[in-house]
Amino acid sequence: MSAPSQTSGLPQDFAPASDEAWQRVSAAPGFLSEREARFLALVAAAAPARGAILEIGSFKGKSTVGLASIAARYSLGRVIAVDPFTAPSSTDPSLGGSASSYDDFCRTLAQAGLTDHVEVHRHFSRDLASGWNRPIRVLWVDGDHTYRGAKEDLDLFAPHLADGGIVAMHDVLHNFEGPIRVFVEEVLQSDRYGPAGFCGSIGWAQYRPRDGAAPRFRELRAAQARRAARLLPFSTRGRGLRGLAKLRYQIYRAAVPHGDVDPHAWADLIRR
Ligand SMILES: C[S@@+](CC[C@H](N)C(=O)[O-])C[C@H]1O[C@@H](n2cnc3c(N)ncnc32)[C@H](O)[C@@H]1O
Repeated sequence: MSAPSQTSGLPQDFAPASDEAWQRVSAAPGFLSEREARFLALVAAAAPARGAILEIGSFKGKSTVGLASIAARYSLGRVIAVDPFTAPSSTDPSLGGSASSYDDFCRTLAQAGLTDHVEVHRHFSRDLASGWNRPIRVLWVDGDHTYRGAKEDLDLFAPHLADGGIVAMHDVLHNFEGPIRVFVEEVLQSDRYGPAGFCGSIGWAQYRPRDGAAPRFRELRAAQARRAARLLPFSTRGRGLRGLAKLRYQIYRAAVPHGDVDPHAWADLIRR
């Protein structure tokens, strides 16, 4: 792996790299806002650790091409993507378990010119986990959004996070049951993680088992957890929130800071 040229932990040419990644992401079908795509690009470019970029849940390849765009530019190795592509997931009810997103996924990679920069595993994440033995630099969790599924993904792969690596979970601020609960209970409340926050609907944290308990990190995570925990009672009610409950959810969500992230400030925050 060749390290990119860096100032303050961020590659000097990160701005055009982010533009290039977003261009590819925006051309692909799937679920990722520009804010989230640019943040993922930042994570992939700046995470101060060595190891794999692992994506759990690829669907039609939208986030995959964003990660692979950065991995290709900075010679960070192939992005590892795992998805059965049968979409038997509560996140994709319209596919009903009979359709497959695999052809679209392959088309997305080919159109982006990134096929050779992705290692695809057409399995459930737990099947990949059974033989997994590589350190993980970026763990992007966007697969099964049930509580059981999201917790299983973190339980299986977080032990492989490299010191300084980043875990990022999608849809923590959308009303799915799993991501928010797992992020609050297993990440924000754990001293194995240091700085943490939100960008769009992504919850992220840096794995810092040696100094995650430092007061500055604990306080930051506790403040995030206090606000995010107010969303938990709603998460069991799933996507069908209505009326007053929906309004309260929206008010609580707005109180969780999740706006654009300044790349330089973020790279400084996670610097070790
Ligand atoms: C929300 S979509 C992923 C969206 C994608 N990251 C994007 O950028 O558009 C969720 C995906 O997770 C996959 N999935 C569900 N359960 C899974 C599991 N246990 N392991 C791996 N992938 C899973 C589904 O097949 C589906 O394609």
